[in-house]
Amino acid sequence: MTIRLVYFSRALRDMSLQDIQDILTTARTNNSDQDICGMLCYESNWFLQALEGDREAVNELFLEIADDVRHDDVVIISYAQVDECIFPNWHMGYSANSGAVTGMLATFGLDRFEPDKLSPDQALQFLQHMSDQQAQEAA
Ligand SMILES: Cc1cc2nc3c(=O)[nH]c(=O)nc-3n(C[C@H](O)[C@H](O)[C@H](O)COP(=O)(O)O)c2cc1C
Repeated sequence: MTIRLVYFSRALRDMSLQDIQDILTTARTNNSDQDICGMLCYESNWFLQALEGDREAVNELFLEIADDVRHDDVVIISYAQVDECIFPNWHMGYSANSGAVTGMLATFGLDRFEPDKLSPDQALQFLQHMSDQQAQEAA
C-alpha cells in the first residue's frame, strides 16, 4: 500500500545551504534504497516535507526523522493512501527558489512561509509547485 505523509516542523537553528545539502544527501541515499520519494522545503526556520512510498517504510522513516535533533515540534498535516506518487522524480526534491515560495504563498493570502497556516490541500499544492520549480531548474 502506497501512502503519502506530509508534515511540518521547526528547525532548532538557522540552517545553512550546507546543512540542507547534508540532509538531502542522506535522504536521497536512504530513500532510494527504500523506494521512497518526496519533496522538502526549508524557509524561515520551517521545514515542510512530503514522504511517499510503502506504508511501513514511510512510517519507519518518519519516526526516525521526527527524532532528529535538527528540528522539533513535528506536526503531521496529512496521511493518506494514494494511487500514485506525485513526486516520483525525486528521492527527495528540494528547491530554494524564494520567488516561487513568495508567489505561491501570495495565492494563499500569506506573506510569510508559515506551514501551520496551510490546509492539507494547500500544503500539497505548495510542495507540488516547488517540485515543478525544481523540474524547471533541472531542465
Ligand atoms: C527535516 C529533515 C528531513 C529529513 N528527511 C530525511 C529523508 O527523507 N530520508 C532520510 O533517510 N533521512 C532524512 N532525514 C535525516 C534523518 O532524520 C536521519 O538523520 C537519517 O535517516 C539517518 O540516516 P543514516 O542512519 O543513514 O545516517 C531528515 C532530517 C531532517 C531534519
